[in-house]
Amino acid sequence: MSQLSVRHLLGIKHLSNEDINLIFQTADKFKDVINRPIKKVPSLRDITIANIFFESSTRTKLSFELAEKRLSADVVNFSSSGSSVKKGETLIDTVNNILAMKVDMVVLRHSSPGAPHFLSKYIDANIINAGDGTHEHPTQALLDAFSIRERLGSVEGKKVVIIGDILHSRVALSNIFALQKLGAEVMVCGPNTLIPKYIDQLGVQVELDLDKALAWCDVANILRIQLERQQIKYFPSLREYTLYYGVNRKRLDVLKKPITIMHPGPINRGVEIQSDVADSEHSIILGQVENGVAIRMAVLYLLAGAGLKQ
Ligand code: CP
Repeated sequence: MSQLSVRHLLGIKHLSNEDINLIFQTADKFKDVINRPIKKVPSLRDITIANIFFESSTRTKLSFELAEKRLSADVVNFSSSGSSVKKGETLIDTVNNILAMKVDMVVLRHSSPGAPHFLSKYIDANIINAGDGTHEHPTQALLDAFSIRERLGSVEGKKVVIIGDILHSRVALSNIFALQKLGAEVMVCGPNTLIPKYIDQLGVQVELDLDKALAWCDVANILRIQLERQQIKYFPSLREYTLYYGVNRKRLDVLKKPITIMHPGPINRGVEIQSDVADSEHSIILGQVENGVAIRMAVLYLLAGAGLKQ
């Protein structure tokens, strides 16, 4: 198989196991490319890509832009702040105006779940979901699973716990889909109030006790508390959250084995993770960021349907 089964990357839910493996094999090649002295290939030379971000981003935005430039695509960047969205222009009008400038692919981050799915019904360009509200963040889940495969040899059979604010996390849902498709066992851990009611339908284990979850897993993917998406108080205080759900060295030192530490970022040091864990030899947090460029190159390249010219 040399082509994806989809035209857009809207969510991991829509990808087959073969799609994910093809993305990984392609990312392996691009990871070699970005570690060479000359980091650029001409694969997307005639393609124009618009990065349209209606929400803040550091990693995803820079990573997509770098991936596009490494593939020699032409790139335009749009942020809703400072744009005509402030004057009342709709999402679809904004995107259609950008597409009228002959754009081939759109990378979209939006606070509304389903925004990229909605757009895909009305426009011709390939759409890549760069995070839609609390729904999905497919390239994050791909780079996370790719990073587990790189560190532990494979994803199949590994025990992965996702810790923290599962309720408001698009990373959690995309990770659950990706890890399950690749044969991992998945657990979520956090305060009961931050575990979604629909969790039973996802086939994951639920553990409210962080120490038990850490003892069970091979990999801990730690999420930040997404206060910007919380309209009510889900726990008494950040101090109490850290006491019960903060991952620290003391908690890891009592385990009989090392576990791999992950975090999609941004990190809130001293809240969900202590610095000596984030910066430890078992942390692959910056490796995830590095892999993000290779994964996004692979996704863009495969969706553009180009031949591998290096
Ligand atoms: N992991 C992630 O999506 O980070 P940004 O919000 O900085 O893009």
